Amino acid sequence: MQITTLLGSAKKKGNTATVLGWVEEELQSLGHDVERIYLNNKSIRGCLGCAKCRENPDEIGCVQNDDAVDVMEQMISSEVVLFASPIYFWGFSAQIKALIDRGYSLVTNYHKPGHTSLMEGKRIGLLVTGAGAYEENAEGMFTAFDWIVDFLLARKSGELYVGECSVPAELSEEVKNKALELARSLVG
Ligand SMILES: Cc1cc2nc3c(=O)[nH]c(=O)nc-3n(C[C@H](O)[C@H](O)[C@H](O)COP(=O)(O)O)c2cc1C
Repeated sequence: MQITTLLGSAKKKGNTATVLGWVEEELQSLGHDVERIYLNNKSIRGCLGCAKCRENPDEIGCVQNDDAVDVMEQMISSEVVLFASPIYFWGFSAQIKALIDRGYSLVTNYHKPGHTSLMEGKRIGLLVTGAGAYEENAEGMFTAFDWIVDFLLARKSGELYVGECSVPAELSEEVKNKALELARSLVG
């Protein structure tokens, strides 16, 4: 399968990138093509909310011509998309949140008859790392992600929260095993 991973941390060797690397290695060893997009290097402006993108369901149609359009084209051409973010103030990092908001242009007729999405039927997953526990900290992100999956008419194929992170060198073997499980569920 063609798989796109979206790294929402600025750190190329941080906790999120390390766990994501384990997921990607496992996917590659299972024979899949994996391409990581390092969002911090991309120019992705916030959504303008102009709704011009809603006029044609068959194309992205965003009026802003920045890197978000190329990233969304790559997502559309993939069978699996994995969102990976550190938790920042109980939510997604700014780098990945901007892309999620621009995903408004992937959908038409949300909550109406004729709801369509350029991501319909794709497998999508979520990987989050944070300093705190899941409870009273990360639940909101995972709840929002479920709504995002419904919005995109996609299929949630895996999720993982890695809490109580300090530095990548201290990520445990147990975390690595969970990363491998996430990889297998994304394509299973
Ligand atoms: C601006 C900022 C906000 C953060 N907010 C939270 C938070 O709300 N909850 C949490 O558990 N950790 C929070 N953290 C810690 C990071 O999520 C955690 O260290 C994460 O593993 C960093 O991932 P990275 O190494 O891939 O960048 C925050 C860190 C920063 C820099």
